[in-house]
Amino acid sequence: MSEQKDKPWAGRFTEPTDAFVEAFTASVGFDQRMYKQDIMGSIAHASMLAEVGVLTKQECETIINGLEDIQSDIEQGNFAWSTELEDVHMNIEARLTDRIGDVGKKLHTGRSRNDQVATDIRLYLREQIDILQAELKRLQEGLLQLAEQEVDTIMPGFTHLQTAQPVTLGHHMLAWFEMLQRDSERLQDCRKRVNVMPLGSAALAGTTYPIDREFTARELGFDAVCENSLDAVSDRDFAIEFTSAASLIMMHMSRFSEELILWSSAQFNFVDLGDKFCTGSSIMPQKKNPDVPELVRGKTGRIFGHLTSLLTLMKGQPLAYNKDNQEDKEPLFDTIDNLRGCLRLYADMMPQIIVKREAMYKAAKSGFSTATDLADYLVRKGVPFRDAHEIVGKSVRYGIDTGKDLSEMSLEELQGFSNTIEQDVFEILTLEGSVAARNHIGGTAPQQVREAIKRARQRLA
Ligand code: ARG
Repeated sequence: MSEQKDKPWAGRFTEPTDAFVEAFTASVGFDQRMYKQDIMGSIAHASMLAEVGVLTKQECETIINGLEDIQSDIEQGNFAWSTELEDVHMNIEARLTDRIGDVGKKLHTGRSRNDQVATDIRLYLREQIDILQAELKRLQEGLLQLAEQEVDTIMPGFTHLQTAQPVTLGHHMLAWFEMLQRDSERLQDCRKRVNVMPLGSAALAGTTYPIDREFTARELGFDAVCENSLDAVSDRDFAIEFTSAASLIMMHMSRFSEELILWSSAQFNFVDLGDKFCTGSSIMPQKKNPDVPELVRGKTGRIFGHLTSLLTLMKGQPLAYNKDNQEDKEPLFDTIDNLRGCLRLYADMMPQIIVKREAMYKAAKSGFSTATDLADYLVRKGVPFRDAHEIVGKSVRYGIDTGKDLSEMSLEELQGFSNTIEQDVFEILTLEGSVAARNHIGGTAPQQVREAIKRARQRLA
């Protein structure tokens, strides 16, 4: 049975909390990771209370020193978290009073754990968004590096996972860059709504003390204060929005992973992911498994799950704060941790990827990937597109039967399908000619990709 007298809210209770209820309702096991934000918020709150005359300067100083000592205790591993004290907020507040005496009890003036926790989560998430942005940028830089290195590398481009048209690997990498660029913009936009301060909303209705919320917001680096106290203590839409942005990032990472997994298979043999990023099999000595991309693809599912958890957590809640909201933390934290891990690994992995240019080239050559170029050639010579399509279809059929690529057929063979075909056809049937011809903004021509990389670097700066 717990020591009821330890609990800051024990006043109106006559019986102690059931031991299992205590364990069941506690969040300290997972919310202690917000200790820094909790202390930061308390210091700003105490400073504000002193500023408006609710605390004396001396009291404020004593409180701040006490909180700073607690922070260093926590960071040195000298802090025993207690389940009886339920959460990070009450653990720190109780310890403060232990350390500095009764003045510690004044810290909670004009505040509630409801606005406190909402503030802590926002501060925590804001910091994590900034870390995630840095990792995302590192990964984007890696993609640009690879794109630059492989600007002339030709590979098959796919639709339906069937060879479609040749593309450059540089162009392919820039596609991933674009997806991550939008992801980064989404995170930045989400940060605007995260960085608004609930503190001062107190339990739900505000407080009777002459608080200065603008002061506290400035101290904590918030862009603004929440306009409505009921909304501020209860809604977690900012966490849902973040998890939604995280889900989109993971969706992109998962697609990227799927390609790397395919590409590193013996059948494709387009890339080697580097020994540092693969593992072996305990039974099959030949195996080098792409575990990192596979796990990233796998983790995408749990992040989508967290988004669903948070949406469902919120949907039935009447105003204002409900204990349900304690369940926001684990999905949010797990989303952050896993997303950070995935981005970090991918950023580290990019420079390790070895591109097998010959295999890519060979694959591009073997799937009639210049068929569209031949059709376009015929159109330029006056053949209607639908007829050109038919002519090329027949040539491809012939190529399949004889095992020849279009570029390997003789002029006579090609002229058998259309007498409009002349010697100059061979310039456009090469892979190099095919990619170079797609020479406009957004196209795969190496010249365009070089320009696109330049622009991408500027956008990233
Ligand atoms: N541990 C709680 C949470 O995570 C803190 C707020 C609790 N407030 C309350 N009135 N019980 O949401």
